[in-house]
Amino acid sequence: MGGGRSRFVVELICSRCGRRYRPEQGPVMCDNMDLGRLDVVYDYEAVKEVLGRETIASRPVEMGVWRYWELMPASKEHAAPLREGWTPLIFSRRLNDFLGTRSVYLKDETRNPTGSFKDRAMAVGVAKAVELGKRVAVTASSGNAASSLAAYCASSGISCYAFVPEDVSLGKAAQLITFGAKLFRVRAVEPGKDPTVDLMVKAVRAFGWYPCPSFGPFNPYQVEGPKTVVYELVEQLGWKSPDAVLVPTGSGCFLTGLWKGLRDLMALGILREEELPMLIPVQPEGNQQLVRAINAGIPFERIQPEPNPRSVASGLLDPFPWDGDAAIEGVKKTRGKGVAVPDEEIMDAVRVLASKAGVFAEPSGAVGLAALRRLLDEGFLDRSDRVVVLVTGSGLKEVEKLLGGVGEVPLISPEVEELRRHLS
Ligand SMILES: Cc1ncc(COP(=O)(O)O)c(C=O)c1O
Ligand SMILES: [Zn+2]
Repeated sequence: MGGGRSRFVVELICSRCGRRYRPEQGPVMCDNMDLGRLDVVYDYEAVKEVLGRETIASRPVEMGVWRYWELMPASKEHAAPLREGWTPLIFSRRLNDFLGTRSVYLKDETRNPTGSFKDRAMAVGVAKAVELGKRVAVTASSGNAASSLAAYCASSGISCYAFVPEDVSLGKAAQLITFGAKLFRVRAVEPGKDPTVDLMVKAVRAFGWYPCPSFGPFNPYQVEGPKTVVYELVEQLGWKSPDAVLVPTGSGCFLTGLWKGLRDLMALGILREEELPMLIPVQPEGNQQLVRAINAGIPFERIQPEPNPRSVASGLLDPFPWDGDAAIEGVKKTRGKGVAVPDEEIMDAVRVLASKAGVFAEPSGAVGLAALRRLLDEGFLDRSDRVVVLVTGSGLKEVEKLLGGVGEVPLISPEVEELRRHLS
């Protein structure tokens, strides 16, 4: 087991049935098996005494998510040394000129250790596994969360099993295998049901493995990692909040974390309620159950899974938004709304991010920009608004979506004459 736990966690409360757990019990899923998320509750009064702007700013950014260790549910002594987080907040003049905007920023999460924001989640989920003395972790994922888990498990000496969809991308599969994960592609058998999640739950029951997907109901600790994106961007903007944050969304776990991060900052007195940025979830048109629910006022309990999720944005194809409850609350409380974007606009956003800003994103990571263009056109956002677009995953993960093969690239002899012919 080894080492102490976080001193500031008071309890964990099930988001479905309200059942409370003491932190020393180390609960992962609710005993009622009701798919509630065990929300981590901190003693904010105590945290406030030791953590404020100055303290945060004085700490090295190399600490990753552990720079905010008082607001983490695991002890920092179990941290893997991979240095996630403190990703750049990029202001691209060329991108803003192209969009006709003044203050659009990109939070470039592709710079994380394995190329996606999921490293923040798995940094915490795996530190907790070490703290709880777990030897084997298991995940269900389209690839990014699984590669992150595999990297953090490798670094911490934990075995990792990963269940991914049949058509997993080459980049994500290559990362997983090379990090040493035992990788299985799982066949889809029933519309609206994620077969990877199904098998993960069965494996947890059969083998007692530690579940660590990036969905709150199956692991409440990893939820706490991505909230650091909010802490960072507010600090990077000079302790000011933007007007809106665009969030690529699948299960809604990232949004749940961002909303928690905003509430943390309010509890610490760093942000006031009137200053909260609008949280704007973005989904592909072919899988938009959460966005539809938000915009039509459908409560979480009535959301049906998408029977046939389809999009180039392979990271955003969760048929069911596992963390939709808190995601919906965050969007409502910040007066945001949901946006669904078609595949053509997603691919165009990939090209604009790369060619105007020099940022290489996978389709799932680029949907925020596609949504921003829509919101500017319809006037929901103003061209002078201060907007942060979260770019969540690297283009290197899915090169096959961007290029059919190197055969598409002209092959020539090292002769200027031949080059000239191609130029004209
Ligand atoms: C690149 C990328 N962006 C965004 C998301 C969405 O995160 P969430 O499922 O927490 O909503 C994912 C999830 O896999 C992802 O891979
Ligand atoms: Zn419960």
